[in-house]
Amino acid sequence: MAKTDNRATFGKLGVILATAGSAVGLGNIWRFPYMLGSNGGAAFLLVYIGCVLLLGIPLMIAEFYLGRHTRRNTAGAFKAIAPGTKWSLIGYNSIWAAFLILGYYSVIAGWTLEYIVESLSGDIAGKSAEQFSASFNAFSTDAVRPVIWTLAFIVMTHIFIASGVKKGIERASKWMMPLLFIILVALCFRSITLPNASEGLKFLFQPDFTKITPSVVLSALGQAFFSLSIAMGCLITYSSYFNKETNLPKTAVQVATLDTVVAILAGVMIFPAVFSFGIAPTAGPELVFITLPNVFAQLPAGWFWSFVFFVLLALAALTSTISLHEVVTAYIHEEFKNITRKQAAVFVSIGVGIIGIISSLSFGLLHGISIFGLTIFDALDFFTAKIMLTVGGFFICLFIALKVSKKDLREELTNGGKIRFRLFDTVVFFIKYICPVLIALIFLNQLGIF
Ligand code: PHE
Repeated sequence: MAKTDNRATFGKLGVILATAGSAVGLGNIWRFPYMLGSNGGAAFLLVYIGCVLLLGIPLMIAEFYLGRHTRRNTAGAFKAIAPGTKWSLIGYNSIWAAFLILGYYSVIAGWTLEYIVESLSGDIAGKSAEQFSASFNAFSTDAVRPVIWTLAFIVMTHIFIASGVKKGIERASKWMMPLLFIILVALCFRSITLPNASEGLKFLFQPDFTKITPSVVLSALGQAFFSLSIAMGCLITYSSYFNKETNLPKTAVQVATLDTVVAILAGVMIFPAVFSFGIAPTAGPELVFITLPNVFAQLPAGWFWSFVFFVLLALAALTSTISLHEVVTAYIHEEFKNITRKQAAVFVSIGVGIIGIISSLSFGLLHGISIFGLTIFDALDFFTAKIMLTVGGFFICLFIALKVSKKDLREELTNGGKIRFRLFDTVVFFIKYICPVLIALIFLNQLGIF
């Protein structure tokens, strides 16, 4: 019997929470706020929502089709539909992307663990802005501590993966996602009750349309892809665990909505607090690791808010690293004979551990090594999140356009006619024509060609 015949399937709630767990991650809480901050505030938010609707949801639906229709891992899905062709390269591209992303993503995820410990040890009280910046720099460039945290994060991810699809992934998502939501709402509440909070809300919600430039649009598109976990195999792999009754279009809309709501709430949590203390909202990646601790330090019981915040960040990251790990583990387990799931997971964790160590060291010890002028960490981010992801998204659209009949699509997306999908024709039109053109534009822009 093929290893895929007795595949696990998620229950109804598991479908949404596991997929949302993959989507909601550092991308929402760490990356989205600083992208918004440095791309003009509310105007970016509007463009971002447009990108989720026009590009994100159609692509999610396309990946759900591939996963549930074939019930295979990311490479297997392409092989099942177009056997013996080069199309499976799209699958391999996504699997490599997931593997490499997991390596460097775990570094940032590991930092959240350091900050959890620091919050509890009372380290943040009474530090000045300069001290926060100095201690962050000292920590992130250290050769030992961040490496240990990175590996710790990979081990945590490994434990859930090794426990299996239902007992590990589904169960983890079912308690982590609600907890994440409660923490987020509590932190939002704390933030908007600070003096002068309305300034931050204005920044987030009052668009200045003159701020919309081509580069803002392209940043928003890239962010939408990353945040929805598109083109990295996660959606194909998870949807291969969906059941026959799962409503694919509806699930895509629900997950995209949850993901966007969490990103907006992250903005509500961060900007009022930042404005309230008169700090610049445009800080880059350090917004969460330098600017926010500085804000927490000025609050009564700041250590507590800081602790809660970094737990939130760690949970969000963990459900995402689990999904990235699963992409590679499911592939190795299913495509190679005689390799058990647990063995596959061990291979993946060791490989990712090595990439994680190198990425972490590239902030300090290995800072001098550069690939096309980027540090190893930045190069990994660039090649995966910018190049492999966009190329993958483009070819997924092409694959659907050239290799899948409209009849098959309709059959799968309506569960054999059992559910209605009114926008079917529009969505298919988007997947086949609009999305690839827009993605090609982002790509050329990223390469600096236009
Ligand atoms: N979507 C996740 C986030 O926003 C990141 C991620 C990307 C997870 C790709 C899985 C796959 O942080």
